[in-house]
Amino acid sequence: MRPAVLRRNAVLSAFSVIFFRFSSATFSQSTIPAIAKYFGTKGRYEEVNPYLIDDILSVNKSLSKPPSSDCRAIHLTAVIRHGTRFPTSKNIRKIKNLHSLVINEAKDTHTWLRDIKTNWEMWYTEDMDGKLVEKGRDDHRHLAVRLATSFPTLISKDNFQNNRMKFITSSKHRCVDSVEAFQEGLHRLWNIKDTSYSHENNDNLMRFFDQCKKFIENVENNKTALQEVDLFKSSDEMKKLQRRIADRLEIPHNHMTTDMLEAAFFLCSYEFSIKSLNSPWCNLFDEADAQVLEYKNDLKQYWKRGYGHDINRKSSCTLFHDLFRRLDQAAYDFKFGHVTEAVTVQVGHAETLLPLLSLMGFFRDETQLTASNFHQQQGRTFRTSKIVPYAANLVFVLYECGEGLRLQFLLNEKPMTFPTIEQSAPLYRKVRNHYSDLLNGCNFEKECELSKMNRRNTEL
Ligand SMILES: *[C@@H]1O[C@H](CO)[C@@H](O)[C@H](O)[C@H]1NC(C)=O
Ligand SMILES: *[C@@H]1O[C@H](CO)[C@@H](O)[C@H](O)[C@H]1NC(C)=O
Repeated sequence: MRPAVLRRNAVLSAFSVIFFRFSSATFSQSTIPAIAKYFGTKGRYEEVNPYLIDDILSVNKSLSKPPSSDCRAIHLTAVIRHGTRFPTSKNIRKIKNLHSLVINEAKDTHTWLRDIKTNWEMWYTEDMDGKLVEKGRDDHRHLAVRLATSFPTLISKDNFQNNRMKFITSSKHRCVDSVEAFQEGLHRLWNIKDTSYSHENNDNLMRFFDQCKKFIENVENNKTALQEVDLFKSSDEMKKLQRRIADRLEIPHNHMTTDMLEAAFFLCSYEFSIKSLNSPWCNLFDEADAQVLEYKNDLKQYWKRGYGHDINRKSSCTLFHDLFRRLDQAAYDFKFGHVTEAVTVQVGHAETLLPLLSLMGFFRDETQLTASNFHQQQGRTFRTSKIVPYAANLVFVLYECGEGLRLQFLLNEKPMTFPTIEQSAPLYRKVRNHYSDLLNGCNFEKECELSKMNRRNTEL
């Protein structure tokens, strides 16, 4: 079941360890780029759980065990981001421009630059446009197996074959392909020969951001909503970075635009996440450079999907209510008969997960992320590299225990505590109580409606 790519990597990294012992410390060509932990939403899932590099199916049972021995898991809802994907056509065009720039203008004083100029082929084509790659299918096949190992009474062959597991996805091809890969992982695990998969497309739930008028008008189509990002792009920090990269390529400073810079960083990330390669392009950046670009990407997510604007979080009200409705339903069914929906698997986007996490108060820093506080924000909790890599997952598990219902929450297979509730897997009523304002309000129609003033403006 382990993909060949990973086995080959294990061999290669064993080799490089031996090789490294006998070589000087100035040369350390690892299979993992040193900057891989700064790729933000373009990061590989293994970077947040490095033990998976050695064994992609390994599960740390102590992280997903029931709150106590008298507990019985009765429902699980997982909200999962699609797996590793190709760049979008817009980014592919940027990569193309960067490649031409390097071919035409860069000197070849470094070995890695010669390597790019003579050996690297521009293999991305615009029709790849954001589609799921084979590694992305593996992300979901493997995650399915690990979750089934962690929660064997819920993600079970019996529940699967008797339709007590429900699959819902965003209609985007990369999400549909991910949910099918997830089911394929379970088929292989349980040796099910039938290969018919079923799922429901639901964009109201998984792409709520496309349907929230207020979000579209106030943030998505509003040039000033992301002004902190623009300010950071023209900050000293970024200008210095542009000059450093231009110097490494030995090209005129003004030829290294922000777009080119971004394209180079993305290119290193794509070559790594798609092909497991430490590409020569990665030599353009050291860790300090990568931290600047990581911050730029976090700033964008913060202002577009996170705490920056209230409507970003509020646009996820429907998904929030849907989650608690499922948990309530399972609790009710358990009390009065049998649980008909033991598991819900919902596949969406980073843009789906971040607003929900923010609505629920996770990863909220005391001070806002702005263009001017890059240095103060070194220790921020809002770090998308850690939160939403490919195949990022939010797992909510409801337990019936001696003293009542408990709710466990895991992000990327690690237990998390709810804001202001210290204990992990607290009583479900404590969680409901903590979110009572949202549970009694947070009405999507109301939150997403355009204010009268805005409406008048658009009518003019
Ligand atoms: C599993 O998780 C526990 C709790 O975080 C940790 O102490 C332990 O080292 C982990 N075990 C393995 C094998 O990684
Ligand atoms: C655009 O964003 C700015 C900054 O957040 C805000 O002040 C302004 O009201 C927004 N404009 C619209 C039309 O929503």
